[in-house]
Amino acid sequence: MSEILVATGVDLSYGNQPAVLDAHLSVSVGEVVAITGQSGSGKSSLLYCLAGVLPVKRGHVRFEGRALGDLDDDEISALRRERFGFVFQYGELLPELTVEENTALPLRLAGQRKGPALAAAGKVLERLGLGELRERRPGQVSGGQSQRVAVARSLVHRPAIVFADEPTGSLDSANASAVLKEFLGLARSQGTAVILVTHDPAVAAQADTRYTMADGVLSPRGTA
Ligand SMILES: Nc1ncnc2c1ncn2[C@@H]1O[C@H](COP(=O)(O)OP(=O)(O)OP(=O)(O)O)[C@@H](O)[C@H]1O
Ligand SMILES: [Mg+2]
Repeated sequence: MSEILVATGVDLSYGNQPAVLDAHLSVSVGEVVAITGQSGSGKSSLLYCLAGVLPVKRGHVRFEGRALGDLDDDEISALRRERFGFVFQYGELLPELTVEENTALPLRLAGQRKGPALAAAGKVLERLGLGELRERRPGQVSGGQSQRVAVARSLVHRPAIVFADEPTGSLDSANASAVLKEFLGLARSQGTAVILVTHDPAVAAQADTRYTMADGVLSPRGTA
């Protein structure tokens, strides 16, 4: 399989405090990669580097062969808007938009008209069993439902890769495994790769490839 995202020797610090040390990772088209590790080990920091949200101090992240550090602001914004999807660890849906509008957001940001964008969002919501909640606002759905909506939103524009930071973090294990199954099922069916950050070994077990992170050091699973 061909590689779409490759990180080579990535370092990140906050001031003098190192958070990611010499990380190497590669993701192929449609591959699901899990990163586990304790709180504070640097998982979110690494994810932000891989997505070009935080600039790396040393090393490179290449997406489809191009180093993120060589792209200008417009190019990196376009990539994040069109080719990447995100499920954030905190702060999910916009409270003033309906579930359907929240889900359609990546398409609207990419310039799609409202009608087709909402129609596409409706289909993904339907697929994730959320069709009936379309018109509701985030304050009117449960925690599990809102995580499903965040998952729908991350996939709606058929990105090449989704960066998912604890996408089932606030759910009990039964709900976490149901949401994860839907998430990975939909990603796999549309050929979207996923980098899945989780502290839950049962979640990581669903991935094709696993890494662990400890004190900023990323290791392939089994050698940590
Ligand atoms: N903006 C920041 N400024 C300074 N230090 C930070 C910042 N963000 C994270 N850190 C520190 O960097 C280290 C790694 O944090 P990070 O959020 O990447 O961990 P994590 O593995 O995602 O943890 P969790 O599982 O709790 O989400 C921690 O020591 C954290 O305190
Ligand atoms: Mg984190």
